[in-house]
Amino acid sequence: MMPRDDVDRIMEVMDAAFDPLWGEAWNRMQIESALAIGNTHYWLIAPHGGTPDEGEEAAGFALVRQIFDEAELLLFAVSPQWRRRGLGARLLGRTLDDMKRSGVCKVMLEMRRGNPAESLYRATGFVPVGLRPKYYRCANGDRIDAVTFSFPADEQNN
Ligand SMILES: CC(C)(COP(=O)(O)OP(=O)(O)OC[C@H]1O[C@@H](n2cnc3c(N)ncnc32)[C@H](O)[C@@H]1OP(=O)(O)O)[C@@H](O)C(=O)NCCC(=O)NCCS
Repeated sequence: MMPRDDVDRIMEVMDAAFDPLWGEAWNRMQIESALAIGNTHYWLIAPHGGTPDEGEEAAGFALVRQIFDEAELLLFAVSPQWRRRGLGARLLGRTLDDMKRSGVCKVMLEMRRGNPAESLYRATGFVPVGLRPKYYRCANGDRIDAVTFSFPADEQNN
């Protein structure tokens, strides 16, 4: 069997973590194309909380696009069997710290309204700064609002 590369690790988490109902998961080609551009970076976390060793599975990943001093958290997930152990919080903290170190002043993300991830984002310091009504279309045809979060908050929204 081929050894796991990082895109394999990302896709293993992706396939397990995102409910097809929401249509949020990316396919392998979308990940590879994003990474090929050079401004998109990923972070992995292993079940033990560190970075996965060679061949080891990832429990979660974050994918971030950076444009000058701003960044967008494009994808963020932990596989269901590893949730509620603090891995998501640790991964998000590590990602934000690294971005800060590389000169990022502001991180944005867009979330489907009602996603339980909201409490994690708020606890980390993200604040809601915008709403796009009926922005996402689910697999069953339902429309769901998108909430935009910013970290740190925009001055005018404080
Ligand atoms: C969001 C996600 C990454 C959280 O990963 P996680 O490893 O479970 O996160 P943590 O264990 O670090 O949780 C930290 C805190 O966030 C909150 N939280 C996380 N998941 C929650 C849930 N399902 N319901 C309620 N609160 C939740 C809790 O406050 C939790 O702390 P606690 O466990 O001490 O109560 C994970 O649920 C996931 O992959 N979801 C599917 C993909 C997704 O929707 N990603 C976000 C796209 S915007």
